[in-house]
Amino acid sequence: MKNVLIDIKNLKKSFGNQHILQGVTMQLFENENLVILGKSGTGKSVLIKCIVNLLKLDSGSIKVDNYEIANCNSEELIEVRKKIGFLFQGAALYDSMTVRENLTFPLTRLDKKFLKEEITQKIENVLDDVSLPEAIDKMPSELSGGMKKRIGLARTLIVNPKILLYDEPTTGLDPITSDEISQLINKTKNKFKTSSIIITHDIKCVKTVADRIIMLKDGTVYKEGSLSEFENDPDSYIQSFFN
Ligand SMILES: Nc1ncnc2c1ncn2[C@@H]1O[C@H](COP(=O)(O)OP(=O)(O)OP(=O)(O)O)[C@@H](O)[C@H]1O
Ligand SMILES: [Mg+2]
Repeated sequence: MKNVLIDIKNLKKSFGNQHILQGVTMQLFENENLVILGKSGTGKSVLIKCIVNLLKLDSGSIKVDNYEIANCNSEELIEVRKKIGFLFQGAALYDSMTVRENLTFPLTRLDKKFLKEEITQKIENVLDDVSLPEAIDKMPSELSGGMKKRIGLARTLIVNPKILLYDEPTTGLDPITSDEISQLINKTKNKFKTSSIIITHDIKCVKTVADRIIMLKDGTVYKEGSLSEFENDPDSYIQSFFN
């Protein structure tokens, strides 16, 4: 039996009379890359914002490592937040801070007891992991889009999360840089044994990273399966994503 890290049952979320998620049931297993596909506006970002409690669900259940998110008190939510790294759509670095300061922030926010030397060591290690050691004292404005994504990932990885949520990690990047980010997603999974949800429209990225795919349509899960099951599905709606 595979260990379930995120267990979502019949999740519903509306904004006014816009019924975005209409009963989503899905799981994230340990040490897998799960890709979520779905056309723009189907609620992919809403889904992962519900997982990290940035949005409150209307009904249904989201369990992260057996914590029912909706019932967590503030201490429990902090515990859950430590397990999850969230790479937002767009890199979202703090523009007025150097890379070093951007990477210090998540460490000191969750846990105040790190020594200065420990922080420096962690920053150096994580910049090595994303192959950007030379960026440590740069400002975000001095970085390319791909470099910003890497620093965004470094900022997520620095607190050693078990679960990573990537919202469109390759959007806006050239094909070569996109490939590098896709490889980095795989490297992260293999090195740190993380489990990830990756939202993407980039089929090349899907082909590189996906252990399993879930497609959302009309507020529910339309299909779940492996890459080859999706590629070989004659359904024209599914094919429209792959061609
Ligand atoms: N905070 C909010 N308040 C009101 N409506 C919202 C809010 N967040 C999202 N929505 C609406 O929910 C729908 C789904 O949005 P979401 O951002 O999840 O789409 P998506 O699948 O991530 O699309 P894309 O592929 O373009 O990123 C959209 O119609 C959006 O306008
Ligand atoms: Mg989105």
